[in-house]
Amino acid sequence: MPAAERTVQISGSTVIVRPTAEAASQVAADAIAEIIHAAVNERGKAVLGLATGATPEVVYAKLVAKHEAGGLSFQKVVTYNLDEYYPIQPLDPRSYRAYMHRLLFSRVDLPANQAHLLDGTVPEAFAPEHAAQFDRWIEADGGLDLQLLGIGRNGHIGFNEPSDASVADFAAAPTRLVELHPVTKGDAVREFGAHENVISHALTMGVKSILSARAVVMLATGPRKAAIVAQALRGPVASTVPASLLQTIAERVVWILDEPAAAELGA
Ligand code: F6R
Repeated sequence: MPAAERTVQISGSTVIVRPTAEAASQVAADAIAEIIHAAVNERGKAVLGLATGATPEVVYAKLVAKHEAGGLSFQKVVTYNLDEYYPIQPLDPRSYRAYMHRLLFSRVDLPANQAHLLDGTVPEAFAPEHAAQFDRWIEADGGLDLQLLGIGRNGHIGFNEPSDASVADFAAAPTRLVELHPVTKGDAVREFGAHENVISHALTMGVKSILSARAVVMLATGPRKAAIVAQALRGPVASTVPASLLQTIAERVVWILDEPAAAELGA
């Protein structure tokens, strides 16, 4: 029997549940299109923070479909991606730059100099400078109208991995070079084929820029995310569960889940 569609409030955030990942992705794509239209109308541009990984693939297909149907232009959209492996060549098919080009940038009318990703080829000594520059670009663009997020099985957002920092310090974390958590590396075997091929580091947008977004859409699908979704939404705010920090900006966050990902919420 298909589960009921529902919208509930948990820890101050709106949580939208749909029976399937496809239906949840449609809700996310509709929300993104709406934010683009509203921001372009109000400010002349829309600044989006984008995610990669398996979860948003269908969302990008739906945004492309809206564009092809004539209902959505990206001419006045500016994008900042959450993260990129380090080091990695931009044309490496496993790079997030290649992913974005494949799934979205090459399929819509987004001007090339309005789509920004962290650069996996920057010399390591200059990575801090490059990361700081990325945060300055976001700020100069007036901040993010929307941040699209996925969640790692360890609760990471972007590649802000579980940390023993205080919540205050973690909430202020800037964009930076990080080492991936063992759980993240294990899950990346899917993309990299074998454990020894997984790239162990990444550049990630910091928690500070993520939490400063005027709206956050968190999309999580599938049973593998059920436990961490419940922990992030219902558990205490703790740097050991990075997504729990979204509770500190709860009124700006919408969680969009399929039924399997919502299974442990008890709602
Ligand atoms: C990707 C990102 C990550 C993913 C998360 C979930 O840009 O920032 O936080 O959103 O690892 O990945 P999937 O969707 O592959 O389960």
